[in-house]
Amino acid sequence: MSKLIESAPAAGRITLVGAGPGDADLLTLRAIKRLQAADVVLYDDLAGEDFMAYLHPDAELVAVGKRAGHPSPRQDEVSRLAISYALRGKHVVRLKAGDPTLFARADEELRAARDAGIAVEIVPGITTATAAAAAIGASLTKRGVARRVQFVTGHDVDGRLPRDLDLAALADATATTCVYMGKATFPALVAQLIARGLSAATPAVMVESLGTDATNVQRGSVSEIAARLTADRPSGPCMILYGAALEES
Ligand SMILES: C[S@@+](CC[C@H](N)C(=O)[O-])C[C@H]1O[C@@H](n2cnc3c(N)ncnc32)[C@H](O)[C@@H]1O
Repeated sequence: MSKLIESAPAAGRITLVGAGPGDADLLTLRAIKRLQAADVVLYDDLAGEDFMAYLHPDAELVAVGKRAGHPSPRQDEVSRLAISYALRGKHVVRLKAGDPTLFARADEELRAARDAGIAVEIVPGITTATAAAAAIGASLTKRGVARRVQFVTGHDVDGRLPRDLDLAALADATATTCVYMGKATFPALVAQLIARGLSAATPAVMVESLGTDATNVQRGSVSEIAARLTADRPSGPCMILYGAALEES
């Protein structure tokens, strides 16, 4: 083998891996395989810590936290970091809470990797909305009651309720709506939805810190959950689900 080929660096790559809601047993087998093969893992704090049990002892672990209210590296810095490792021949796992294609800025990391000529793969994860439904023993769809599920963010770049939400769709109680990043803005959203015709009595569930010992489930109507969030905003991440399908039977 020539000297040139011997010293050529191995091709690095980036894998965006969904960690699920935090419990190790909700990682997929594919996620575990990628974690076992990783040279470097860049992880968000919402990804929990259970995944660490699967890493190679020599793997480098880098926290690139993305928790509301906490300082975190800028998105372009995270992309640059992943790319710099990959350019050095490393297999980089970019571990994200839940599913990497939902409210996780995967589009920006994919584009940056592709622009840099780096192979990039996505490993899906269990998103918090479906994990929350499982935790409360509910179905997000219900024959004849809820034929549509919608995932929406309650958080715009400035931290406020996005101004371009489809309020008519969100005021439809025959859909099940899953609100990500909504604990600060849900009261404002509910006020707008009630003005659009959503019943204040529409059933809702808020699940805080799913997959941890601090999991807290609150049930009530949309207006009750909004009032509780106004009076005492939880410190953990919250998934809010509402719609007719969540009526307790
Ligand atoms: C940046 S988004 C990431 C969503 C993630 N990609 C997913 O598929 O679940 C963060 C939001 O997801 C929800 N979330 C993530 N982890 C959670 C958890 N352990 N418990 C409750 N909600 C969680 C919260 O709404 C939080 O504000």
